[in-house]
Amino acid sequence: MAISVRRATAEDLDQLRAQQARPELGLVDKHFEAQQAGSLIFAVAFNDDKPVGTALLDLESQEYNPELRNMYVYPSARRLGAGRALSEFIEDEAKSAGFTAVYLAVDPNNEKAVPLYVSLEYHPTGEHIFVEDPEIPQVEDGIEHSKHYAVYKKSLTVR
Ligand SMILES: CC(C)(COP(=O)(O)OP(=O)(O)OC[C@H]1O[C@@H](n2cnc3c(N)ncnc32)[C@H](O)[C@@H]1OP(=O)(O)O)[C@@H](O)C(=O)NCCC(=O)NCCS
Repeated sequence: MAISVRRATAEDLDQLRAQQARPELGLVDKHFEAQQAGSLIFAVAFNDDKPVGTALLDLESQEYNPELRNMYVYPSARRLGAGRALSEFIEDEAKSAGFTAVYLAVDPNNEKAVPLYVSLEYHPTGEHIFVEDPEIPQVEDGIEHSKHYAVYKKSLTVR
């Protein structure tokens, strides 16, 4: 088993479309087009040559820029290090683009993601974003999602 991460290519799209949590939203194609236009980076994690998850670096986020968004590791591939590898890839991309920090917004009830980000030295800024109805809830069925996502920031200048 070897986890690797790179930007999505056109050849990856069929496999990624097949894994979409909400195919009707067409997010794989929207995100790939946005990457082609230069407004985000669409990262894909592979376990050997099989895609196991994706994440975005939004380069045109309104308030908190750049923003790590839509981190998703397929349920069958959790706890193998793909989430950590995706985050680190996104951070390296942000650094290469000249940014000194990365932001993200996480549901405080997200008991998987909060420990991931804390272990990677993201810190809460104390700010919150009001999320009435998330496109894709971060928490699993049965866990109530919060309407206030916490904003976290990681400095890229201290390592
Ligand atoms: C959150 C998520 C991306 C983590 O992905 P992953 O590939 O399983 O995470 P990793 O294997 O890289 O785990 C890295 C660290 O995160 C923490 N972590 C991950 N899953 C965890 C869990 N279920 N419970 C507690 N801590 C967890 C641990 O510190 C872990 O390190 P360890 O395995 O050495 O203890 C994945 O669970 C997921 O896609 N969840 C649904 C979508 C989501 O919540 N996205 C985040 C939106 S902000």
